[in-house]
Amino acid sequence: MKLSENLRKEWRIRVDYTNMTDKYLGEKGISPKTIEQNKKLAGAAHAYVSENRGKDELFMGWTELPYNQTEIVEDILGTAKDVRRKFEYFVVLGIGGSALGPIMAFNALCHLHYNDLPKSKRRGPKFYVEDNVDPVRMKELLDVIDIKKTCFNVISKSGATSETMTQYLIIADLLKQAGENVKDHVIFTTDAARGNLVKISKELGGVKSFVLGDGVGGRFSELSPVGLLPAAVLGIDIKLLLKGAAYMDKICSSPDLKKNPALICALLQYLSMQDGKNIGVLMPYSDNLRYVSDWYAQLWAESLGKNETLGGEKCNVGQTPVKALGVTDQHSQVQLYTEGPFDKVVTFLSVGSYKEKYPIPHGCENIPDVSFLGGHTMEELIQAENKATAFALTKAGRLNYTITLPVVNEFTLGQLLYLFELQTAYAGAMLNINTFNQPGVEAGKKATFALLGKPGYDGQKAELDGASPDEKYIV
Ligand code: PA5
Repeated sequence: MKLSENLRKEWRIRVDYTNMTDKYLGEKGISPKTIEQNKKLAGAAHAYVSENRGKDELFMGWTELPYNQTEIVEDILGTAKDVRRKFEYFVVLGIGGSALGPIMAFNALCHLHYNDLPKSKRRGPKFYVEDNVDPVRMKELLDVIDIKKTCFNVISKSGATSETMTQYLIIADLLKQAGENVKDHVIFTTDAARGNLVKISKELGGVKSFVLGDGVGGRFSELSPVGLLPAAVLGIDIKLLLKGAAYMDKICSSPDLKKNPALICALLQYLSMQDGKNIGVLMPYSDNLRYVSDWYAQLWAESLGKNETLGGEKCNVGQTPVKALGVTDQHSQVQLYTEGPFDKVVTFLSVGSYKEKYPIPHGCENIPDVSFLGGHTMEELIQAENKATAFALTKAGRLNYTITLPVVNEFTLGQLLYLFELQTAYAGAMLNINTFNQPGVEAGKKATFALLGKPGYDGQKAELDGASPDEKYIV
């Protein structure tokens, strides 16, 4: 899609941080003086990210994804067309960074009941993401798909993740039992040369594969083939998604806090964390955007939750991401946000114009408590509730800010993803930590290997067995 400069501006997402400032929150807010005092820190974070962008050795390859995938995108589009022609079901096998992005984009940009639509109204095959190893879930997925008509996109950078490889073993076995050639039903998204999926591909005689580049970690991979292939299969305009990301990148090229939305968000979050705000709530007022919170939770938690600085000093930093949905959670969590401990920053995701307005009919004229709703639209109602919640939080002295997507489409989602990725990279630089590793996740993966008897993990198995407490407290 060709985008005019005017349309880009019209679809530009905006950050409104008025309700973070002391002008509106009083002493609980952040003062212009504090921001000024930390300008140098923000400038250094911006410089670090700008100077190191694209460097694989620092896991900063994701910054270039909007620009360096021209051929890959064409390959993805061709493959997606083929998948749509041949298959009725498309199943992603993956976990963490290899699953949350595809779920988010699917939910944001497809019909909310996509799989229930008749084939004629869907742009692609039915879509599922298996991001767990719950045996019930696996069995029940198999109840609703026809394996002979299914394409499985196995996504794993390492090809060594127990969950994903378990899923693969199961479907490969079932395909063989059904007399199918496994190779015809799988597409791999993995490392270029290393890992088990590369070996499996060779054994199967060359599986159609896409590469997850060296410098792109799982949680920063949505704009790589990890996210782009499933999106393309669903008929999502992946070129527009990448254009949105590039647009946000351009906006954020400025080190000026007043011009760079990702940098000001990172600084506000950093200052809040320094002030004990250990919880970051992300609250989209949009069902389409609800899984942005799951994707963001991994990005923010895994990137910033670290126990040592780059200099090797002990630190224990990070902020616990909490997922909420407007308006649903107004009737669940907002009481806590308004009156509970002062330990949170709430980020609202608002929508300027919903793709449906849905008029509320007049009725119940004798009951003013109900009839006042008639004549409005559901869009007006959800927007009013969003505004009202921000107002109530601000009145109660609670830090909150709003990111507004003028509309939800590929261009605005691309901007949002890139904004969050940059914000995370800047915040990590401010905290002086390694934003791109995940030793805590690796530790759990290794312990699982040991428990299930993977060769080479005998030492850890002995340690785990030895860690069994002498006395247990079980009620
Ligand atoms: O962000 C990350 O690196 C992790 O969440 C990984 O995506 C997740 O552990 C899956 O790893 P892999 O892609 O190697 O299977």
